[in-house]
Amino acid sequence: MFNVDKIRQDFPMLQGKTNEGKPLIYLDNGATTLKPNSVIEAVTNYYQNITSNINRGDYKLAYLVDQAYEKTREVVADFINCQSKEVVFTYGTTHSLNQIAYGYGLNNLKENDEILITVAEHASNTLPWYQLAAITKAKVKFIPLDKTGKITVENVRKMLNENVKIVSIAQVSNVLGCISDVKAIAREVHKFNAVLVVDGAQSVPHIKTDVKDLDCDFLVFSAHKMCGPTAVGVMYGKYHLLEKMMPLMLGGGMNLHFDTDFNVKLKAVPYKFEAGTSNIEAVLGLKAAIKYLKEIGMDNIANYEKQLKDYTISELKKLDNVIVYNPEADIGIISFNVLDKGKIIFGQDVASYLSKHGLCLRSGNHCAKNLWQYLAVDSTVRCALYFYNTKEEVDKLIEVLKTTTLENCVDVIL
Ligand SMILES: Cc1ncc(COP(=O)(O)O)c(C=O)c1O
Repeated sequence: MFNVDKIRQDFPMLQGKTNEGKPLIYLDNGATTLKPNSVIEAVTNYYQNITSNINRGDYKLAYLVDQAYEKTREVVADFINCQSKEVVFTYGTTHSLNQIAYGYGLNNLKENDEILITVAEHASNTLPWYQLAAITKAKVKFIPLDKTGKITVENVRKMLNENVKIVSIAQVSNVLGCISDVKAIAREVHKFNAVLVVDGAQSVPHIKTDVKDLDCDFLVFSAHKMCGPTAVGVMYGKYHLLEKMMPLMLGGGMNLHFDTDFNVKLKAVPYKFEAGTSNIEAVLGLKAAIKYLKEIGMDNIANYEKQLKDYTISELKKLDNVIVYNPEADIGIISFNVLDKGKIIFGQDVASYLSKHGLCLRSGNHCAKNLWQYLAVDSTVRCALYFYNTKEEVDKLIEVLKTTTLENCVDVIL
C-alpha cells in the first residue's frame, strides 16, 4: 500500500526546516531529488566500513567492494530489463550523451548525414549533437512538436529519410512533462536503419522502464534524479552497438594491454567505457535507490504522481494570475508563469518570493534554451513533483501564488 506519510519518514530533508524557518516544500525534483536514509546509509557504509578501490585489489575487502559494485550493474539491468553487460556506469546523463555522440557518432556519421532532435531537448541532448555535426559536417534537424508539446510518431516519420543516422529525444521533456511514445518512434527510426537515443533523465525515475519493449538503441539517465547520489548515471546500449563504440575516456581500469610500440588492447564492454576510479560510493547508492523505488513500486509511484499532477494543474488553472504552459502534461512537471496586471513577473523573482515561504521551485529556461520558440517565453517557473510530495504542499504553493504580486516579489529582492 502506497502511504505517503510513511514514505516521508524515510527522507531526513523532509523532517527539518528551511533556512527561512519554514517546513521544506521541495518541488524541484526535475533538478535533483531528495535522498532516503537507505541511500545515505549505503554511501556512508562505503566510507565507514568498506572503502577500497574496485578492479584492482587482491585482498578480501577490495573483492567485496568489486562484488557489490558489479551487483549494482545487475540491479540496474533488472530495473530497465537488459543484460548487465549492456549497463555502463557514467557520471550522469550528460556524460552518457557525450559518450554516445563521440563514441558512436564520430565513427558512423559523415557529411550531410542527419541527426534529429527537438527544440524541447535539454542542453545535454542538444550541444553534443551540435558539436558532432560541426566535426563531421552532418546536419542537426528539429522534429516539430505538436500543439501540446509532444513528439508525435507522425512528425518523426515526416523527418526521416536515408540520411538520418541518429534520432535523439527525451522520453519526458524536463519543461513540458509529456511522455513520448518511444516504442512507436523506435519502429519508425529502425525502418531507416538509424539509431534511437533516449534521454531518460526525467522518465526513468517516474515510470517503469523496459528497454527491450521500447526497443531503443540507447537509454541514458542520472541516479540523482531518482533518489540516488550525484555524479553517477547509466548509459544503456544494445551490446552490438556498444562493442563498435570508442570510449570517450581512456585510462586505468579499461585496458588489457599497452606497450611502447603503441599497441593498445581495451577490455570488453562495458568495462572499456569505465576509465579511471569511478564514483564507487555513488554506484552503491544507486543500488540502494533502485531497491527503494522497487519496494514502493514504479507503478504506485507513477499512479500517485499522476493524481498529484492532475490536482496541481486543476488548482493552478483556477488562479487568474497564473498561466500554465503545459496543461496536457503526462507527468508531474508543470511549467507556469505568474502575472501582475497582465504582465509576466520575472520567474526568478517569483521563485525568490516562493522560497521565502519554504517553497523550492526552479525558474528560468531549465537548460532547454531552444524551447522559447515553442513557448514564446524564455523563462518559466517549474513545479516538479515526486512521490513524496503531498496535496497539502500543493495547497501551500497555491496559497502563496495567490499573494504573488510584483510588489511582493520586489520586497523579497530588496
Ligand atoms: C531531460 C534532461 N536531460 C539531461 C539532463 C542532464 O542531467 P545531468 O545533469 O544529471 O547530467 C537533465 C537534467 O536536468 C534533464 O532534465
